[in-house]
Amino acid sequence: MDFKNLQNLRESCRVYKDTKVPRELLTELVEVARFSPSGCNSQPWHFIIVDEKEAHDKVVEAFDDNGLTGCPWGDKVPAFIVICEEKAKLMPGVAEHYGSQHFAQMDIGMAAMAICYEATALGLGTCMIGTINQEKIKKSLGIPEDKIVRLVITVGYPATNDGPRKKIRKNLDEILSYNKW
Ligand SMILES: Cc1cc2nc3c(=O)[nH]c(=O)nc-3n(C[C@H](O)[C@H](O)[C@H](O)COP(=O)(O)O)c2cc1C
Repeated sequence: MDFKNLQNLRESCRVYKDTKVPRELLTELVEVARFSPSGCNSQPWHFIIVDEKEAHDKVVEAFDDNGLTGCPWGDKVPAFIVICEEKAKLMPGVAEHYGSQHFAQMDIGMAAMAICYEATALGLGTCMIGTINQEKIKKSLGIPEDKIVRLVITVGYPATNDGPRKKIRKNLDEILSYNKW
């Protein structure tokens, strides 16, 4: 499948079949993500695959961040991949100039995107979830206090197969200029 086709097929999936995703497939998603680029190749990420009920329920609870939840449908999601930000070891000078975590969120975004595209290629649906109660999720999954959970990716088999939705995006002329702003 060429990249544009894959990009068109990838969309946020919020309704899943009640089918378990094999752990090997979930691990394969992280295997692909680990080859993503990162500032100074620092790879400032740690992934937690959540595919067992007890941990799953705790993640669902942690989506509620004081009444704000981006994933009210979480209990029907077969599996989650939780992405935590690790301390980045940048090249000498770069860390001092920019701060060690300057590139980390971009790095994690790219790894997350790799997960979503690979999932699409494997016939899986995903949705990135950004609203996470840090205290709840860290306590529930034993994540050290000094880490930040940046994203949770929901993973499962899409419940519908009526083709990709029309993508609503800004026009090219709104976001692109040449040689100046
Ligand atoms: C950083 C980030 C956080 C997101 N958080 C949520 C969320 O909490 N809940 C949700 O339903 N979708 C979430 N999304 C999905 C976006 O709403 C979605 O990507 C966007 O509307 C474009 O739609 P598409 O992914 O179907 O192309 C998030 C996406 C990103 C990149």
